[in-house]
Amino acid sequence: MRIPKILGRSGNDRRLARGAEESALHAGGDPVFRIRGLTKTYGSGLTEVRALAGVDLDLYEGELIVLLGPSGSGKTTFLNNIGGLDVPTSGELRYRQLDLAAAGEDRLTQYRRISVGFVFQFYNLIPSLTARENVALITEIARDAMPAEAALEMVNLGARLDHFPAQLSGGEQQRVAIARAIAKRPEVLLCDEPTGALDVQTGIVVLEAIERVNRELGTLTVIITHNAVMADMADRVIRFSDGRVQSSHQNAQRALPSSLKW
Ligand SMILES: Nc1ncnc2c1ncn2[C@@H]1O[C@H](COP(=O)(O)OP(=O)(O)OP(=O)(O)O)[C@@H](O)[C@H]1O
Ligand SMILES: [Mg+2]
Repeated sequence: MRIPKILGRSGNDRRLARGAEESALHAGGDPVFRIRGLTKTYGSGLTEVRALAGVDLDLYEGELIVLLGPSGSGKTTFLNNIGGLDVPTSGELRYRQLDLAAAGEDRLTQYRRISVGFVFQFYNLIPSLTARENVALITEIARDAMPAEAALEMVNLGARLDHFPAQLSGGEQQRVAIARAIAKRPEVLLCDEPTGALDVQTGIVVLEAIERVNRELGTLTVIITHNAVMADMADRVIRFSDGRVQSSHQNAQRALPSSLKW
């Protein structure tokens, strides 16, 4: 079968297996991330903070993960470590064959550029560029990127290509940020409180965009949130507490973002 270019990577067919087949799938497949005893300590002496205190996790191809936990429990630190924005203090952190704990700055930059898309609470768009130009900034430096227009179409902004950020709502700006993050077809999409600044209805539209990217491109997606309702849209819900994984729960099925109520 020929897969249309926008549908991207080879893992798509495999990740369609869900529910009962999921555990078998995981048992057979290599994880994208293998994480063992991961720690991160900031500062020293009196100011020392143990942000991660021994995290053990495997994250698999195409999973949609919702990461919950109280403020200060280490969620952002964890995301920054797996995204190559920060390096751990100790422990094992592997992305495929790449040892992220030992990688130098050049290798980490290359990893972030090719393999990771980030979405943050605040959109960080360039105000003087249109939606299309904000996305094109990335597609011009990436290999095998989709056209900016296709990325914006994926997040339902095909009709807003030439609008500037100031002419877009918060939810629309966040969807431009998602298009920018996924246009290079990263294997991993990391979202730190992507709906934190948005009202409920707008938040749901943003989650729909993230869910569609995950489903159609097979992008391993991690969403940090304080909103426990979002757990229902995940394949797996991971809860952090005091710098550790408190629980990891596989949902039997994912709820559509549009069905979430909060
Ligand atoms: N750059 C840093 N320097 C010093 N301490 C830090 C740094 N980044 C995070 N910390 C500390 O590490 C701990 C974990 O922080 P982190 O930002 O990962 O928590 P979080 O779970 O994302 O919280 P929130 O839900 O409030 O965003 C906190 O005690 C925080 O103060
Ligand atoms: Mg945080």
